[in-house]
Amino acid sequence: MTSVAPSASFQPTRLIRSIPQYVFWELEARKQAHRDAGHNLLDLGIGSPDQPVPPSVVAHLQEAAGRRELSRYPAFRGHPEFLAAASHYLTDRFGVHADPARHLMSVAGSKEGLAEIILALCEPGDVVLVPEVYYPVYVRATQLAHAEPVLVPFTENGTLDLGAIAPEKLAKARVLISNYPCNPTTTTIDLAEQTRLVEFARTNGLLLVSDLAYAELGYDGYRAPSALEVPGAMECTVELHTASKSFNMASFRVGFVAGNAQVIAALDAYRTNTGYGAASLPQIAASAAFAHYREIVPPIVAEYQTRRDALVSTFTEHGWSVTAPKATMYLWLDIPGAHDDWGWVEHCMRTYHIVVTPGLAFGEAGRGKFRISFVQPADVLADAARALVGG
Ligand SMILES: Cc1ncc(COP(=O)(O)O)c(C=O)c1O
Repeated sequence: MTSVAPSASFQPTRLIRSIPQYVFWELEARKQAHRDAGHNLLDLGIGSPDQPVPPSVVAHLQEAAGRRELSRYPAFRGHPEFLAAASHYLTDRFGVHADPARHLMSVAGSKEGLAEIILALCEPGDVVLVPEVYYPVYVRATQLAHAEPVLVPFTENGTLDLGAIAPEKLAKARVLISNYPCNPTTTTIDLAEQTRLVEFARTNGLLLVSDLAYAELGYDGYRAPSALEVPGAMECTVELHTASKSFNMASFRVGFVAGNAQVIAALDAYRTNTGYGAASLPQIAASAAFAHYREIVPPIVAEYQTRRDALVSTFTEHGWSVTAPKATMYLWLDIPGAHDDWGWVEHCMRTYHIVVTPGLAFGEAGRGKFRISFVQPADVLADAARALVGG
């Protein structure tokens, strides 16, 4: 016998409904519409690495898959092997000393880590200072915490214009987010600039959250410095590192947060209420990657550099003025002609069957720009560039 249930509403909360639709979600829907119309799309939109997981990482993972203790619940802070590898990486690569017991925590990707840091630290009414062109989670997690995102403009050279922050907003600010090398603008950072950001955070009683997702993707000899290299940075800084980009392990969902012990403890307190540690097998796989980054990273970066060069030279030969980025896996370009943002993205899909990301996905200040990801071999990218310049 069936009874008629009272009509129920399973709407998301008012807060979630008040947050504007995720632009990447809209891009997905538009892609699907083109696929449904029978088009085979070349997706240069999302920054999802296409190169293989390093063979040494695969071998380590295969061996680990049979280890009995790895099927139990993971430790909250992280697997000791992973935290040791993360600590080794920070010391070897940046000269940073992080105590695995106090200064490190594994996370299920830096996107979740970023959100959890904000949710663990921010109260309603607090301000989070976010770069004006931003990776969306910075703003969305702030909104989920009932805090206020305040956008910090860029200067001409792509650094944060800290002097432009309104004093009343600065007074309420708890967190300053920085993301260099920057997605999507590709702006790089040097140690002097990291020092300026750390000093600003310290002077104003802020936590600097440095998102170093593109730590290893540097070209022409560029190597991104860590904010934690700045003397005394541990007092007011945490930094996010991920296996997603440096090691082609985006689906593994594994990274770590390093820095201030009190923030790590707050993050731990937050995470213990909502989940366990990051999954053990991805952590074990990522241990092999971070421990052997010196051998693993160079061929990955060399391939990206070849792709970057193919794109830049093709665009340049056809009259587009494009500067080769020194880091990340993107070109950040002006939308040509009279197209508006979605108009250009639709035009690329309809006419060339190529997906690019509208700059709007990174906030209003991204309007008029678009992003191309280096996620196909060089010859495919060169063909795509030839098609786009025709537009
Ligand atoms: C700037 C930035 N931060 C964080 C992330 C998230 O990376 P993860 O895969 O570690 O969550 C991305 C992914 O594109 C990114 O571009």
